[in-house]
Amino acid sequence: MRAEKRAWWKEAVVYQIYPRSFADSNGDGIGDLPGITAHLDYLKDLGVDVIWCSPIFASPNRDNGYDISDYYAIMTEFGTMADFDEMLHAIHARGMKLVMDLVVNHTSDRHTWFLESRKGKDSPYRDYYIWRDGKNGGPPNNWGSVFSGSAWEKDEASGQYYLHLYAKEQPDLNWASPRLREDLFRMMRFWSEKGIDGWRMDAIGKIGKENFDDGPIVPGALFGSFEPACHHTETTHRYLRLMRENALAGYDLMTVGEADGTVEQLLRYADAEDGELDMMFSFEHNDGLNDGGELGKWSDHGAPLTDVRRILNKWQTGLQGKAWATVYLGNHDQPRQVSRYGNDSELFRTRSAKMLATMIHMMRGTPYIYQGEELGMTNAYYTQLEQYRDVEVYNAWEQWVASGLVDGQDMLRYFARLARDNARTPMQWNREENAGFTTGTPWLPVNPNYLFINAADQVQDPDSVYSYYKQLIHLRHTCPVVVYGTFIPLLEDDPCVYAFAREMGDQRLTVLLNWTDRKVRCKTVSEGSGQVLISNYPTHQTGLLQPYEAIVYLSAAQPG
Ligand code: NOJ
Repeated sequence: MRAEKRAWWKEAVVYQIYPRSFADSNGDGIGDLPGITAHLDYLKDLGVDVIWCSPIFASPNRDNGYDISDYYAIMTEFGTMADFDEMLHAIHARGMKLVMDLVVNHTSDRHTWFLESRKGKDSPYRDYYIWRDGKNGGPPNNWGSVFSGSAWEKDEASGQYYLHLYAKEQPDLNWASPRLREDLFRMMRFWSEKGIDGWRMDAIGKIGKENFDDGPIVPGALFGSFEPACHHTETTHRYLRLMRENALAGYDLMTVGEADGTVEQLLRYADAEDGELDMMFSFEHNDGLNDGGELGKWSDHGAPLTDVRRILNKWQTGLQGKAWATVYLGNHDQPRQVSRYGNDSELFRTRSAKMLATMIHMMRGTPYIYQGEELGMTNAYYTQLEQYRDVEVYNAWEQWVASGLVDGQDMLRYFARLARDNARTPMQWNREENAGFTTGTPWLPVNPNYLFINAADQVQDPDSVYSYYKQLIHLRHTCPVVVYGTFIPLLEDDPCVYAFAREMGDQRLTVLLNWTDRKVRCKTVSEGSGQVLISNYPTHQTGLLQPYEAIVYLSAAQPG
């Protein structure tokens, strides 16, 4: 296998901040930029190299900043441009980097471009968005939006419909317009000139719409799929090449795309020879497991080891030698990883959080930590609709429950497992009121378990999840095989143990992870396996793995 080309973003650990929920400096209940700046030493101590901030641009917050109304202004609740400059300076002063969220598949419906565009068919901004005439008294086609309901909204004034693949307050931009593209590229250069270090590109696979034909319908679903016409099209790749030439070239930026797809589809974007981006987030191990059929993502499906392993191994081996990978389980769109893939009971939360962390940090690719994951933060487990804030939840309720198609209790159960607000509860800093997140009323209730899951306690405790993450990150910084080693799947049929190896030169890492709450036999665990590099247990038993045990051996690579 060809040796990996070195790059700073391959050797880095990325930490995702969801600014709204990270730290509030002014008591309005909403996290902000000075709040982030005040906690940079915490991230530095953890060992973080790169901070990815979810969107911080002006926004009416229909989708918490993923609906931007001005790409050149900071969201009022988050602070000012001076606060941004100070934050960026403070990040760089600590030797860390900043990646911003690029949301350019759509804007807010309050963006001036859209306000102008909807003024009428003759507006000079009309073609900044996607307007079509209706068909047979209804929308132009059968597409459903990601957030439930039709993907088209009628504008009574002109009688035409505009496309929104997400909420109706998030109209899709028309990348076919050269003027729009130049406006977006100018905006990207503006932020690069300010000194940012990269972009996480939201919904980037959807920017190139190729046709507006009706899409296939899953049996029982209410709407057709926009996928074939709007996702991973040749047109998207053409726009991204234009972006590379006009907005990325000349800057040392890390780029990571967000687009659900197959290995082959995502390889096109991140191909080491000719890809447009450095790496892609794949979704198959999270959204791919839900498979709610007609209910979209909403279901009771769990995340069994056999499925997770099959999917992760497929991605690890499929990208190897061809494209760099991202490795993550949690983000602001997913429930908390320890609740979903691990075990968040009092007895096993810490062990299983460390086990999952070992898996992520020992795989091939850049690891992404989502805020609070390094503390083992858990799902919120809300029981009532009113406790949620997320537009996705309310749209789903409207489509399925309000219309009488699904029982409310069932839907609440799906939400408690999978809703995005589970990961958006405020960061748990300490045992003070509101977990030290705010002196005001938090925009989303704090998880009451902050009394025993919080940063202040864990930073002091050498056995905490936080301290374990610190060790894992340190290994990445000091052990090149962790970054560049070849991934080799092991024990692929074992019902309880996830095992793999990494090899580089004369070194081999063997990673063994017990995904169960029982002791299990694992013949690979033995005295002769090499030196224990890291483990979530202080002692080990030959031939056995303890509940949720993770152990990594370093040994000489086997010849051949
Ligand atoms: C993906 C983002 O991560 C999610 O939070 C957002 O709702 C959609 N894209 C739309 O921007």
